[in-house]
Amino acid sequence: MHRLGILLSGRGSNFLAIHRAIADGRIHDAEIAVVISNKPEAGGLESARSLGLTAVAIPQQGKGPAAREAHDAAMIAALTDYGVELVCLAGYMRIITPAFVEAFPNRILNIHPSLLPAFPGLDAQHQAFDYGVKVAGCTVHFVDEAVDHGVIVLQKTVPVFDEDTAETLAARILEQEHLAYPEAISRVLSGRYQTIGRRYLPR
Ligand code: GAR
Repeated sequence: MHRLGILLSGRGSNFLAIHRAIADGRIHDAEIAVVISNKPEAGGLESARSLGLTAVAIPQQGKGPAAREAHDAAMIAALTDYGVELVCLAGYMRIITPAFVEAFPNRILNIHPSLLPAFPGLDAQHQAFDYGVKVAGCTVHFVDEAVDHGVIVLQKTVPVFDEDTAETLAARILEQEHLAYPEAISRVLSGRYQTIGRRYLPR
């Protein structure tokens, strides 16, 4: 059984999509070992508890680089305690430290609501909408030391319609996120891939 650790900061719809995909066999031989949030009030923690999963809040204590490092050390310790093999950032709205990346080399995935490298950072869907793109989408990628930067596992696109608002576009992207993340996790867990430079290639 592959043990997944989900990190989230908000409502957790991507976490729920991953949970459904495990339940219906799109991701097989996997279980969610723990759901962790930096926000004790995150809706995703509540959903996890109601599904009978282990859900833990680890808020950052204090400010500054030392507090950030201490927080990531606590995250690494919890993920290690729960025997997590693959860490899935699912709306985890924090930049993780290099120590975190080193603790799980090539074993942290993130989903981002844009076609990277376009529109990294916060509010990617609004950025894309305001920029006037005609095609938008989402990206699942490995996490490295740089923000929204690691090797891309897969991307899904959506059209942008003239009558869209940033909100209707975000909702269309989110539907694709819910398909993309389980698909990417399943591919990565299969181990049937190689990376050559920045290129992820199935084999
Ligand atoms: C998702 O749209 C995810 O792509 C985005 O936060 C949302 C979380 O929604 N993540 C980022 O912007 C990371 N840079 P959810 O809590 O319903 O899964």
